[in-house]
Amino acid sequence: MFKVAVIPGDGIGPEVVSEGLKVLDALEETSSLRMQRTELDIGASRYLRSGELLTEDDVATLTKQDAIYFGAIGDPRVPTGVLERGILLTMRTRFDQYVNLRPIRSWLNFSRLKNEAPFNIAFLRENTEDFYMGAGGIFKGGEGKVPLRIKRTMYDIRIDLEASSSDVEDFAFEVGIHSRRGLERFADFVMSYVNQAGLDEFTVVDKANVCTSLYGLWREVFREKSEKTGVRLEFMFVDAMAMALVRNPERFGVVATPNMFGDILTDLGAELQGSLGLSASGNINPSGVSMFEPVHGSAPDIVGKSKANPFGAILAAKLMLEHLGMVELGKRIESGVESAMKKGIVTPDLGGSSTTSEVGDAVIEYVMCV
Ligand code: NAD
Ligand code: IPM
Ligand code: MN
Repeated sequence: MFKVAVIPGDGIGPEVVSEGLKVLDALEETSSLRMQRTELDIGASRYLRSGELLTEDDVATLTKQDAIYFGAIGDPRVPTGVLERGILLTMRTRFDQYVNLRPIRSWLNFSRLKNEAPFNIAFLRENTEDFYMGAGGIFKGGEGKVPLRIKRTMYDIRIDLEASSSDVEDFAFEVGIHSRRGLERFADFVMSYVNQAGLDEFTVVDKANVCTSLYGLWREVFREKSEKTGVRLEFMFVDAMAMALVRNPERFGVVATPNMFGDILTDLGAELQGSLGLSASGNINPSGVSMFEPVHGSAPDIVGKSKANPFGAILAAKLMLEHLGMVELGKRIESGVESAMKKGIVTPDLGGSSTTSEVGDAVIEYVMCV
């Protein structure tokens, strides 16, 4: 019996999560899979009611789970960043989910590319450091003191910044931070992922030609690990990587990225497949509680219209089952998605006219009949 926390969240989050849960229900009916699910009301409406983001009670409940199944966060009624930082990013750092696995692949003829060579790429995005540390501040009137405290499970960094400027009014900064410990554990994960995938080479993305300190340490750690393990790597600058992903994605297998560039490249990758609504991700702590979610956000522009593509959320359930050791059931979900696509039962973002729940039903039909 697996314990799974369900957080539908905001916007289209609940619409797509309910399709993912339908698919998991169908698997429970037709296999030995058993889950005990606990739904948590975390998101914009609770925040607007009570001011709560991620509470200590939430954390206590989530800590007891085998996995977390998450929809999306973000609401136009709340200032941007409050829910994103206060819920989603806090969850990733509190549970030390330091790897964000975001696979993309070509599906039938849905790719946006003219080049029809099939591709299959596992993006591994470092998920707790870089420009996501919350290490920022604003110097009002061009001067002041900003004390920063970056507390993680592995370390506690304090930086005190003091500034005075005679010729600007306000100025703002946001610091990117990498720690050797943070990078080593991430690089170790990447190396073993590459090995398990049966590959002997992978790609590392950065902007070491500009942010020489931040990505200098990043490169140093990857080089050391590569020498030690014999797993070969190529470095690519993120701008060239954006170009290469569009030109010939089939040449990549595993791609390791820093946090911020990974965020951007995986939306690009999602759309190469045919739609952002197709992409799934796993926020992984190999020895803790991991969280599975679609890559997309709360999509306020289509909420309540039955237009949301549930494939990303359904494939997030697949990643969750694989993580819990049920690889065959994961494959069954992926084949269910392909089956719905083959029948043309897809939402408007993929050129179809089916509703969110019709797409979920089509996946279930396959999953139940295998
Ligand atoms: P978004 O991913 O919500 O939407 C971008 C575009 O893609 C929109 O046009 C949307 O309609 C479309 N889209 C997204 N998911 C889709 C789906 N499943 N089916 C069909 N179309 C889909 O990004 P945004 O508009 O930049 O952000 C909206 C809110 O979501 C913001 O508050 C943002 O911070 C938040 N956000 C949250 C997450 C997350 O929870 N993981 C991820 C990204 C953005
Ligand atoms: C994502 C999102 C988040 C990120 C935001 C909402 C904090 O864009 O999951 O891709 O930047 O990681
Ligand atoms: Mn994103």
